[in-house]
Amino acid sequence: MTEPLKIRLRKLLPWALGFFAGGIVLVLAIAYSGIFNIAATAGHPAWLEWLLALGKERSVVVNSKPVDVPELNLTELVPLGAAHFHGGCATCHRIPGQPINPVYDQMLPPPPNLQIHAPMWTRQQLFWMVRHGIQFTGMPSWSGQGRDDEVWAVVAFLQALPLMGEEDYLKYANGNSKVNSQAQNYPANQFAGKGRINLTACDRCHDTHDKQPTSPYVPSLGGQDSAYLKRTLHEYREDLRQSGFMEPIAAELDDKHIDNLADYYASLTVPVAKSVQPVSPAKVELGRQLAEHGDRLRKVPACLSCHGVNKRPDYPRLAGQSEHYIRQQLQVLQRGIRAKTPYGAIMTTIAKRLTEQQAEAAAAFFAGQLPADHKAAESLRR
Ligand code: HEC
Ligand code: HEC
Ligand code: HEC
Repeated sequence: MTEPLKIRLRKLLPWALGFFAGGIVLVLAIAYSGIFNIAATAGHPAWLEWLLALGKERSVVVNSKPVDVPELNLTELVPLGAAHFHGGCATCHRIPGQPINPVYDQMLPPPPNLQIHAPMWTRQQLFWMVRHGIQFTGMPSWSGQGRDDEVWAVVAFLQALPLMGEEDYLKYANGNSKVNSQAQNYPANQFAGKGRINLTACDRCHDTHDKQPTSPYVPSLGGQDSAYLKRTLHEYREDLRQSGFMEPIAAELDDKHIDNLADYYASLTVPVAKSVQPVSPAKVELGRQLAEHGDRLRKVPACLSCHGVNKRPDYPRLAGQSEHYIRQQLQVLQRGIRAKTPYGAIMTTIAKRLTEQQAEAAAAFFAGQLPADHKAAESLRR
């Protein structure tokens, strides 16, 4: 830089600082005066509307670029995404074929009809918005901390939504739940939550006496010990176990609901598992070895020493859970997300010692075991 230019810039500096300070004072004065009308009824002036839309679009486009999209199996994910949308999003974003509730239509900006809006965005962009929420609009972020893996079910659903009529939508959203057809002792029929969200039946996602869960990402609860079900429902409610699907639901349950639901599912006859997809016998055999004997070199104890027929009632049964669910939980455990309780901490240490191949093998082995066998063996030993 030449000397005279430097001197000229130095002279300009006080002016620049003066303008900057003046700008700050002006903004503070406008804010303090109350001149700017923040009433939702006032709407946004056209220039602000334009600026906000531009800022939002650019922010979503730029920030979502690094998101890696996994392979999405729509048949497996859409039912779970739809059931969650029904409980957690539909109040604001409406149900296909039904008008939006006028209260939510008065938000500024109003929640858009996603049958029309979802196709405007890519998978990455939808993921980013559902995961992070959108500032200044009321659009919330995902409530399960560290559970980005869960968001993909909702993205899969949002991509299927534009083609759904009201009937298709309700079929997916209601899953296994059929109004009035449940056994009388089904406790979810006897409460409607504390009324803060649209909480209906658990079997919109979970198993019934004659049906598997609606998605392989949803665990089966039937025949699981009541002590484990109670403990884990409390953990979702008290933010000790992370899931954007289960935490909002558990938050609606009081202690009595939790006790009743846990006892109900513990007493539910487990449906005979669907014929499991053909898996390599070598993989299942490796899983069986691990389950029965562990891996001494990697200091992994036999899975069945804690998850077998003589397990503690507050430990989960794995027999009959889907491969997807077992694999996903092992990943969640390996990432340290389920380590907030002493129970989770025990399993975290073990999960971190498993190779990917071992985790997959264990999942394949337990998915092929019948929970019914587990129960029968248990009653024989008693
Ligand atoms: C409290 C109301 C509310 C809830 C609950 C809510 N949203 Fe939104 N959502 C909004 C609002 C308001 C916007 C509009 C943002 C805008 O116009 O900039 C929005 C925007 C979006 C968008 C971006 C669409 C676009 O074109 O701007 C998506 C996608 C979306 N929501 C999905 C969801 C999903 C999925 C859920 C449930 C997990 C959900 N929302 C729950 C209020 C809500
Ligand atoms: C929108 C679908 C959905 C609904 C509705 C739902 N769940 Fe779940 N539930 C899930 C998913 C998905 C998981 C796995 C969450 C995770 O990764 O921790 C789960 C996990 C659970 C677990 C933990 C099981 C285990 O093996 O650790 C229990 C217990 C449970 N749910 C009970 C209930 C009860 C009781 C209700 C009704 C009040 C209910 N759920 C409603 C989807 C749902
Ligand atoms: C020392 C006892 C112990 C051993 C051995 C053990 N686990 Fe666990 N496991 C637990 C406990 C306790 C939990 C419950 C964690 C919680 O509640 O967060 C658990 C939970 C799990 C879950 C989650 C189940 C659900 O319903 O959410 C999976 C999957 C799992 N273990 C797989 C395995 C595999 C595979 C092995 C063998 C390689 C194994 N465990 C060995 C104690 C053990």
